[in-house]
Amino acid sequence: MGRFDGKVALVTGGARGQGRSHAVRLAAEGADVAVVDVCRQFDSVQYAMSTPDDLAETEKLVREHGRQFLGIQGDVRDVEQVEAAVRQVEEQFGGIDLVCANAGILPSTGPHAQRLEAWFDTVATNLSGVFFTLRAVTPGMVERGRGGAVVITGSTSSFRGVAYKTEMLNPGHMAYGAAKSGVLALMRNYAMALGRYGIRVNTVIPAGVDTPMISNEFFTRDLQADAPPGWMANVMEHGPVQPGDISDAVLFLLSDQAKFVTGTALPVDMGTLLV
Ligand SMILES: NC(=O)c1ccc[n+]([C@@H]2O[C@H](COP(=O)([O-])OP(=O)(O)OC[C@H]3O[C@@H](n4cnc5c(N)ncnc54)[C@H](O)[C@@H]3O)[C@@H](O)[C@H]2O)c1
Repeated sequence: MGRFDGKVALVTGGARGQGRSHAVRLAAEGADVAVVDVCRQFDSVQYAMSTPDDLAETEKLVREHGRQFLGIQGDVRDVEQVEAAVRQVEEQFGGIDLVCANAGILPSTGPHAQRLEAWFDTVATNLSGVFFTLRAVTPGMVERGRGGAVVITGSTSSFRGVAYKTEMLNPGHMAYGAAKSGVLALMRNYAMALGRYGIRVNTVIPAGVDTPMISNEFFTRDLQADAPPGWMANVMEHGPVQPGDISDAVLFLLSDQAKFVTGTALPVDMGTLLV
């Protein structure tokens, strides 16, 4: 018996990184899984984004658990693509019970980050994309009357500033913190309105996670190398965690073990927010 037997999960940004980990772990515990991921590069992002091969790898890993998989190349910045993807999942799997609104970009380094395009892409992905996802899944979840759970991926940037030099006040980096703060407002309102339908909405707050978003030469050279002592420190004196460490918290929030937990932001940050 898995915690998610008979459930259908939708994971945005699940071609790799944390989203892939959530998708595979949900399948391991019994869920059929749909992933929406853009699987291509944005001009505003300096590090390499995911590819169709990454999505195929997620599919392989999900299917190894004997679960159904639906991979959709789609862009959460585009409301019509999000709505079409949700319709496709509902038609194929008969509904959606669990949602990870996880897709995100961090265009904080290089000339890319200095352009206003980086602001617009980041707000469109990390904030509008979460809203479009919540807006698209809500009617079906309410109508089916089976309850459900949503976890949005925030960041320690939802609660604190990280700009230790003026170069970091760039459009990409500023949009990241603004969007990650904004998703908390989405969470609170959706949690309030959907509680009576047995639908819970929470946010996970990761500190550094070892994915290509931060484990890349640009982040290391342009942000970490110059950083003053204690920048992004945590009380456990630990480096970046693994995607599976975030999945542990996400699956808890999606599960019945958290059946009375809604409207909360759960840090998995080794105490970063205490420093
Ligand atoms: N890695 C960290 O240190 C860290 C820390 C805190 C929060 N986060 C957040 O965690 C989430 C997952 O990031 P990750 O660390 O796995 O990074 P990642 O870059 O490995 O994964 C992000 C995925 O989102 C997809 N994506 C990006 N824009 C998209 C769009 N417009 N439409 C659809 N898919 C899109 C990418 O293609 C990629 O597969 C993000 O929201 C990120 O902001 C990451």
